[in-house]
Amino acid sequence: MKPTTITIKPSGSISIEGDVVLQDRDGTPIPRPPEKHPGILKLCGCGHSKTAPFCDGTHNEHTKR
Ligand code: FES
Repeated sequence: MKPTTITIKPSGSISIEGDVVLQDRDGTPIPRPPEKHPGILKLCGCGHSKTAPFCDGTHNEHTKR
């Protein structure tokens, strides 16, 4: 079985590839948005996402000048 891989991107996004359960602190599953890349979950690590905890690409507005 392939291990789950978590990649921290320079932009701040956190890419998770592999089986993972996403839940809130009460254990309630958090529904995932449609995946741009099937099998890869992208979480926001920059703090600017409008769809937190998911990355929505807003980090691009804060890294491009
Ligand atoms: S890391 Fe992409 S919106 Fe925060």
